[in-house]
Amino acid sequence: MSNSFRLYIKNAKQAIVVCNNGEKFLTKEGMKNMSVMEDCSLIIGKDGLLKAVGPADSIGFQFRGAVFEKVIDASGMCVVPGLIDAHTHPVWAGDRVHEFALKLAGASYMAVHQAGGGIHYTVTHTRRASLDQLLHSLTQRLTRMLRSGTTLVECKSGYGLELDTELKMLMVIEKARQTLDIGISSTYCGAHAVPKGKTVAEATEDIIKVHLPKLKEKMAQGELRVDNIDVFCEKGVFDLDSTEAILQAGTDMGLQINFHGDELHPMNAAQLGAKLNALAVSHLEEVSDDGIAAMAKAKTSAVLLPTTAYILRLPQPRARDMLDRGVIVALGSDFNPNAYCCSMPMVMHLACVNMRLTMNEALAAATINAAYALGVSRSHGSLEVGKQGDLLIINSSRWEHLIYQFGGHQELIKYVIIKGNIV
Ligand code: NIG
Ligand code: FE
Repeated sequence: MSNSFRLYIKNAKQAIVVCNNGEKFLTKEGMKNMSVMEDCSLIIGKDGLLKAVGPADSIGFQFRGAVFEKVIDASGMCVVPGLIDAHTHPVWAGDRVHEFALKLAGASYMAVHQAGGGIHYTVTHTRRASLDQLLHSLTQRLTRMLRSGTTLVECKSGYGLELDTELKMLMVIEKARQTLDIGISSTYCGAHAVPKGKTVAEATEDIIKVHLPKLKEKMAQGELRVDNIDVFCEKGVFDLDSTEAILQAGTDMGLQINFHGDELHPMNAAQLGAKLNALAVSHLEEVSDDGIAAMAKAKTSAVLLPTTAYILRLPQPRARDMLDRGVIVALGSDFNPNAYCCSMPMVMHLACVNMRLTMNEALAAATINAAYALGVSRSHGSLEVGKQGDLLIINSSRWEHLIYQFGGHQELIKYVIIKGNIV
């Protein structure tokens, strides 16, 4: 083994490794057993992967004489895995601050949507925006997420609805992936709303017969990489049958399924996700007992989005029931013009206070389980040797400060490290 490494983090007060036996996800019992190591050190190699995590004295001894490009003395500080945001809509033009006032005054999400606002408002503005404008605002948003500790983020299209704008959005995400430090998992979400003037059946056919083949072609040519497919399965948007047809077509071309379901109305979306072996269903404020059981059995993760229930004053998703029944619970910010939140620490805080997760559960949901929801938990989501060296060093003597403090995390997070580089 080479004797030269990228980064040596030494003498951390605590490191929370999340899991340590190559688990792909954690359910409730596993989350209880998350271990905190006191007085430890970590080493990341030139390939960006973790080479050692363990007691400071034995690592110091084992690696004596080694050469490090960079050394961080983390005395008095804590190390946690980089946070993973499993659900965002970060590519758009035209904010909706005016709608926030309407919603505060009592207008529902669907009332605003059906009156031509909501997603439709953002679609109008996003269609007009140039690729460079969208890339500029996306870069600012992803940078803000990174500063709040997100090292890997799922990014959806879905404010174009017609082919050209959907491709423009995916190209913007692709350019961000190639130029920014933050990791990106990209999602085609052309079925985010039914375009004005089209029926659900027409929109579904358009996606299956026109959008997806074009995407496939661009992916084969190496122009685009798309990881996941998403549909907004909701009363008045895409019904269960059209959702199934679109997701099936996506899966047939190799995309991972990760879709919006059971948010405002019970739709049996959780059962559909389980049937299709989806990696994840997001939202689930209105999931049924059968849906919970089906997801647990199929190992389809639940991506819970505390900002949505909070801002729309919806019932909270039944996180405790899901955990008790063995569902793999993950978290996402749902960053979008409705829920303008770039901070996963804030999301974990809301999940603890409003959904009654423990802090261990929230951290596992925002790391290893979010990695699972994106199909990357072999390489991401915990501080295990062989995984990517993505982590945070926080300026506090107990890791829980990352959740306990709310707001102002940029002061708390001393270093964000991706592949062993300080970013
Ligand atoms: O996850 N529910 C559908 N999609 C988003 C909202 C998108 C928007 O309102 O622009 C969500 O909350
Ligand atoms: Fe969403």
